[in-house]
Amino acid sequence: MSNLSDPETPQAQQIDAPSRTLTASTPTVSMPTGAMHRILAISNQKGGVGKTTTAVNLATAMAAVNRKVLVIDLDPQGNASTSLGIDQKHRAINTYHLLTGEASITQAAVATAVPNLFVVPSGVDLAGGELELVDVENRHARLRDALAASGDDFEFILIDCPPSLGLLTLNALVAADAVMVPLQAEFLALEGVSHLVRTIERVRKGFNPRLEIQGIVLTMVDKRNNLSEMVENDVREFFGAKVYNTVIPRNVRISEAPSHGKPILLYDLQSKGAQAYLNLAGEVLKREQAVAA
Ligand SMILES: Nc1ncnc2c1ncn2[C@@H]1O[C@H](COP(=O)(O)OP(=O)(O)O)[C@@H](O)[C@H]1O
Ligand SMILES: [Mg+2]
Repeated sequence: MSNLSDPETPQAQQIDAPSRTLTASTPTVSMPTGAMHRILAISNQKGGVGKTTTAVNLATAMAAVNRKVLVIDLDPQGNASTSLGIDQKHRAINTYHLLTGEASITQAAVATAVPNLFVVPSGVDLAGGELELVDVENRHARLRDALAASGDDFEFILIDCPPSLGLLTLNALVAADAVMVPLQAEFLALEGVSHLVRTIERVRKGFNPRLEIQGIVLTMVDKRNNLSEMVENDVREFFGAKVYNTVIPRNVRISEAPSHGKPILLYDLQSKGAQAYLNLAGEVLKREQAVAA
C-alpha cells in the first residue's frame, strides 16, 4: 500500500487542492446513506473505444465528489493501473490473485493519488489467467465471489474490461449490477454493440438476472466531423434514453494524461475532457440515485 491516502504526505496535500475545487464546481447528488455498493462493468469487446479512459476518469470524478470508489483492472494490459500511476512494484498482488482466491479485495486494493480512489491493479499473471481459470470450479463467478466477500468498503466499483468477450469479461458481467458501454463515434460503432447486447442478454438469463445496461457513453466525439454527428444520431435513435446526454469529446489532453500516470482531472482540470467526465459522473450518479430510490 502506498501512503498517499495519508493526508499529511506532501503528495496528498498537492492533490488535495484541485480535488476541493472539483467538489465545489460539481453538481452535488446525494446518495441515500447505507446504500449498497454498485458494481459497474465498463465493457465493449472492441479495443481502443475509451473503456479504460472512461473507467479511470469516471472513477476519479466520482471520488472527487466524495464517493469511495474502487477500479478493478481486469485487462492484462494494465492500462488502467498505469493511467492511475501505479508502478510495477505495487502490482505484486493484483486481479489475478483476486480471481484465484489467493487475495481479498482488502489485500489487493492499492491507494491512488486521488483521495477516495483505490485500484486493484492488473498484473502479468492475468494474461495466462484466462486459460488457467478454465479448469477452476465456478470459473465464471470468481470475481463475484471475491467482491461478495469484501466489496462493501466501496460505494462504487468500476471494472475495466479487456477488449474481448472471454472469461475475464464474463467474470465482470456476472459480478456486475450493470454495464456501461463506451462507444466510439465512428462508422460501424453499432455493429459490434449488437454482439455485446446479445452477450449481456445471455449472461442475464444464465448467471445474473439483475444485469442491465446502465448507459451508453459516446467517446471521442468530434463535433466538426459530420460522420461523428450521424453516428451519434443513430446511436441515440437505437438506444434512446440509455445514451448519456454528455458526450466525451476527442481531446488531446485526455490522450496525454496516461503517460503522466494521472487521470485527466489531475492532469488538466480545465480541459474539455476533464469537464466532460465531471458532467458524465453527475449523470451517472443521478441515474444510480434513481435506481437506489
Ligand atoms: N476522448 C478522447 N480524446 C482523445 N483520445 C482519447 C479519448 N479517449 C481515449 N483516448 C485515447 O484513445 C486510446 C484508446 O483509449 P482506451 O481508453 O485505452 O480504450 P480501450 O480501453 O477501450 O482500449 C488511448 O490512447 C486513449 O488515451
Ligand atoms: Mg482498455
